[in-house]
Amino acid sequence: MSVELFRKKGHVCLMFTDLSSESGDAVQANQFLVVNDDTGAIIDPGGNLAYSELYLGMTKHFPPNRLSAIIASHADPDIIASLDRWMTATSCPVYISKVWERFIPHFCKPGKTEGRVVGIPDPGMHIPIGNCELVALPAHFLHAEGNFQFYDPIGKILFSGDLGVSLGTGAQAQNWITSLQDALPRMEGFHRRYMVSNKILRLWARMVRQLPIDMIVPQHGAPMTGPAVKEFIEWAEHLSCGIDLMTDAHYTIPD
Ligand SMILES: [Fe+2]
Ligand SMILES: [Fe+2]
Repeated sequence: MSVELFRKKGHVCLMFTDLSSESGDAVQANQFLVVNDDTGAIIDPGGNLAYSELYLGMTKHFPPNRLSAIIASHADPDIIASLDRWMTATSCPVYISKVWERFIPHFCKPGKTEGRVVGIPDPGMHIPIGNCELVALPAHFLHAEGNFQFYDPIGKILFSGDLGVSLGTGAQAQNWITSLQDALPRMEGFHRRYMVSNKILRLWARMVRQLPIDMIVPQHGAPMTGPAVKEFIEWAEHLSCGIDLMTDAHYTIPD
């Protein structure tokens, strides 16, 4: 089922909440479609569980050969395991960090990615989509070593990948977060384990505060909007996580 995040004059942002994984043991994940007139991009298209719903959603707006970009925040299976099918169904490039450029062909049949992978350099880039562009913002180590978030300047949406995640069901993912406090029990454990360090979160917070952001939309769980946007940036900025919390006790040989 798709949820409309933004719509204005031919520019539409949709979130798919991957309800197909609900009954199984897979983590709930969101996929995104940005439509700009008769073209668009898919962001973090997900694994094979998510493919059909996103594909059908896309074809309601434009034919597969009009897709401008397949965009991936990093190379985890819940982000890009369906890549082989997307490479077959469309003819556009796939954008992913240079760090993962030579790893993603492993998701595909031999030769399928040839000439179609654009390695995003560490400082980020602008990705043209129809009459607009998405901004690939550096978000390295949040959580992957080469990691980008994607900012839509028209919708003022930050697609934040695995940062800002709240773990829960597809139904919870459709229940937008306006007050961070309510969602923290479903966010804290994930961020403490998956995010790399407080230093990185502080660098990220300093960068994103320069942008007008109406909504932070993570790859798992609900979008954050209203006061929750600022609250999340501030919470993340002060969070100890990842290597901050590691001690000798975490590196002992099992009995
Ligand atoms: Fe991930
Ligand atoms: Fe993820």
